Amino acid sequence: MRLMHLSLTNFRNYTRLELSLPPGPILLHGANAQGKTSILEAVYYLATSRSPWTVTDKQLLNWRVKDEFMPYARISAEVGNNRRPLTKIDITLIKDQPGTEARFRKDIRVNGVTRRAMDLLGEINVVMFLPQDLAIVEGSPADRRRYLNVTLAQTDPAYVHALHNYEKALVQRNALLRRIDKRQASANELPFWDEQLIAAGSIIIAGRQRLLRELEGLAQQVHADLTAQAETLELQYQPSFTPTAKANGQLSFGVLGLDLHRQLEPKEIEPQFRAALAEHQREEIARGITLVGPQRDELRFTVNGYDLGLYGSRGQARTAVMAIKLAELDWMRSVTGEWPVLLLDEFIAELDTERRAYLLDRIDGATQAILTTTEPDIFTRAFLDKAAVWKVHAGQITVPA
Ligand SMILES: Nc1ncnc2c1ncn2[C@@H]1O[C@H](COP(=O)(O)OP(=O)(O)OP(=O)(O)O)[C@@H](O)[C@H]1O
Ligand SMILES: [Mg+2]
Repeated sequence: MRLMHLSLTNFRNYTRLELSLPPGPILLHGANAQGKTSILEAVYYLATSRSPWTVTDKQLLNWRVKDEFMPYARISAEVGNNRRPLTKIDITLIKDQPGTEARFRKDIRVNGVTRRAMDLLGEINVVMFLPQDLAIVEGSPADRRRYLNVTLAQTDPAYVHALHNYEKALVQRNALLRRIDKRQASANELPFWDEQLIAAGSIIIAGRQRLLRELEGLAQQVHADLTAQAETLELQYQPSFTPTAKANGQLSFGVLGLDLHRQLEPKEIEPQFRAALAEHQREEIARGITLVGPQRDELRFTVNGYDLGLYGSRGQARTAVMAIKLAELDWMRSVTGEWPVLLLDEFIAELDTERRAYLLDRIDGATQAILTTTEPDIFTRAFLDKAAVWKVHAGQITVPA
């Protein structure tokens, strides 16, 4: 998969950018705050219709135009993949109620035809490597759930659909729980929402289990390489209830995870989900919140049996994250049948020489990779000779003739 052309209008600090992109590695270099990361953000936005960071669309609009009558930002690209040699994707963010603090409307088009955000997924696949990825191991459970969601979102439309339905039903059910507690509604209304949660939630749990099962094996190989076979990485998927009829968790030094070796089907999970909701109903009404389901899932990483988030060193956490990200890359390639566009934001600088060389070697065959750095000198001569090396300065990119 490859980006041929990128155009930006009023996106972040780019007032106007027209950029043709070659295949292979592209190294964007420049001082801080010039617009390197914004390019990666724009490509990610085209792939997923959202920023990799939790920002409002308003933040993406160039400051200089924000007070205009009907300000807009546009991100467009021409991409080629195995299925189609050329697809044009345009996303326009428009503030269509002048003067108000109204949210932005998002107009998404593929080859000129309006699409829902959900249907944009898969047109461009990206794998992003960020220094913040350390949060997958060291951050909160919500960070890990987000990781699972964004990874699955790009390749599994049924998952995206389920997530969308689940989130809608969860909001409704939580509101109902609070009304039941205040005697403004009856508990008889719960089963309707329970069934929505059960149907969508079971698809989410099965999807996450499948992803983790497939990622674990791939990550273990990379991790073994990076630790000279001294350490074994395992992924422990911990749903908020036991989704199998028989408990089949594996206990390893107190870190209990679901057996990843047997794929669960949504239909198998549903009865357990239903039972867990019934068991917690009283407490849920009292607390006004749904206590079981994928919104409470946890994922832990263990190395030689101990929990990396709790006992691992910084370096071990980094190694695990690199293993997981490279596994994600292999996984994405196997699912889609082609290289995704790789986006590496300052990732290389964070690594020691050995890991740097390993990573660059692993991504060497990529159809296209966009890397950013403030220090191009840390790259080898061989890499720089192969790459398109472009300077980013004040929202402009200089492409050598
Ligand atoms: N909506 C916006 N409008 C205009 N400028 C913006 C907007 N949002 C962010 N900026 C500015 O754009 C500039 C480029 O940000 P970006 O994160 O792309 O820089 P960078 O080159 O990656 O820098 P660093 O090396 O520090 O990571 C920053 O100065 C930032 O403050
Ligand atoms: Mg940056």
